[in-house]
Amino acid sequence: MKRTKIIDILRSQDYGQSVCVKGWVRTRRGSKAVNFIALNDGSTIKNVQIVADVEKFDADLLRLVTTGACLSVEGTLVQSQGVGQSSEIQATKIEVLGTCDAEYPMQKKGQTFEFMRQHAHLRLRTNTFGAVMRIRHNMAIAIHQYFHEHGFVYFHTPIITASDCEGAGEMFQVTTKNLYDLKKDEEGHIDYSDDFFGKMTSLTVSGQLEGELGATALGAIYTFGPTFRAENSNTPRHLAEFWMIEPEVAFNDINDNMDLAEDFIKHCVRWALDNCQDDLEFLNKMIDPTLIERLNFVLENDFVRLKYTDGIKILEEAVKGGHKFEFPVSWGMDLASEHERFLVEQHFKCPVILTDYPKEIKAFYMKQNDDGKTVRAMDVLFPQIGEIIGGSEREENYDKLLQRIKEMDIPMKDMWWYLDTRRFGTCPHSGFGLGFERLILFVTGMQNIRDVIPFPRTPKTAEF
Ligand code: 4AD
Ligand code: MG
Repeated sequence: MKRTKIIDILRSQDYGQSVCVKGWVRTRRGSKAVNFIALNDGSTIKNVQIVADVEKFDADLLRLVTTGACLSVEGTLVQSQGVGQSSEIQATKIEVLGTCDAEYPMQKKGQTFEFMRQHAHLRLRTNTFGAVMRIRHNMAIAIHQYFHEHGFVYFHTPIITASDCEGAGEMFQVTTKNLYDLKKDEEGHIDYSDDFFGKMTSLTVSGQLEGELGATALGAIYTFGPTFRAENSNTPRHLAEFWMIEPEVAFNDINDNMDLAEDFIKHCVRWALDNCQDDLEFLNKMIDPTLIERLNFVLENDFVRLKYTDGIKILEEAVKGGHKFEFPVSWGMDLASEHERFLVEQHFKCPVILTDYPKEIKAFYMKQNDDGKTVRAMDVLFPQIGEIIGGSEREENYDKLLQRIKEMDIPMKDMWWYLDTRRFGTCPHSGFGLGFERLILFVTGMQNIRDVIPFPRTPKTAEF
């Protein structure tokens, strides 16, 4: 008999129909006369209830129906007598496809997230991780749909690269060299000429530089791929391997860039509210009671747009008024998460786009303002998250860009192709990067970035 997904069973009202469902047992309870089995197949957060009359089934078979076991069940779809579900299945045939031994780590309710991280291979079978993964999928679809409908080309940038886009030196090297037998020159530098690519290569920290090549030919592109950062940040917001979405648009200035970022992120939030109701309601109940309210708030309100210099003034006022930050506030500093969250959560109570940062704390490619001190950077700061998007208008002037590359000691030999865009028909252009997992954090209300990606990569962790 053909299997029906549980999501479709629960929507169906074809009572009396014979059906087959397959899935994993969440719970079994019952009396001497009748067993109730809650079965889940991942198609929805909701379980279907299987009603099994004990006399109709072999006692040895029912004993194998334990939490975590995998079943195939045939039966009749009936209207439920119980509260909380509309349809259930009166079982006629139960087959145990996979028994589950008593050590199954996911059987107890209320396990800590830390415990579940250690069992990331099985945590996907819990309600919370099912909900998070379905929302993650939906966000990926929403992103592709948004850009496709707005005429952007999905552009694939390389994962192995010889340039450090952000210039922060936080790259994982890629090599086929024998690390036990490294050749070095007189100065102690490793000779990469006989390495696979004939030069030093790494995993990319961002697809932006190649994305700019795409945008200055195709008009508007976006990337959506894995990026890697070897920064030793053990925080609930950082991963060593994360996914990033990077739109890049020719002829957009910083204001167009802000409009795009705001419209795009609202589209994603709206998509979640429209397409992930059951999962959001579950998370709202179990994880964060303000989640749905916060999503609606972001949708309905304009983001505050503020210059860095004015942001610093607000933070300095707060310090004068007695607010204590861990890190001191002064013009020129990079904002810490506590500063970002103060502006968003306490001062404006609204998402904030902060622009025009000091050039010293931003990447070489950002367009320089006439003041000689700031660049046309923009960070989108979100409640609970802090920085969710980082972007800028790009420096399109060849001489200014070259000067900045020299000032910042960026190896020129790796940059010739990037500079060529400014020699051959340069144009104003802008773009940004959205951290996919930070978006998922926001949309799910989860607290730790390790819990919104199936198999997180962080310092000292590469299990599974
Ligand atoms: O601000 P970042 O470093 O900007 C760039 O990489 C630019 N090249 C983007 C562009 O203009 N095309 O990173 C962009 C976003 C951050 O705002 C954050 O959401 C996310 O990527 N991000 C991380 N997410 C998880 N773990 C990390 N270690 C992250 N580092 C950045
Ligand atoms: Mg940033």
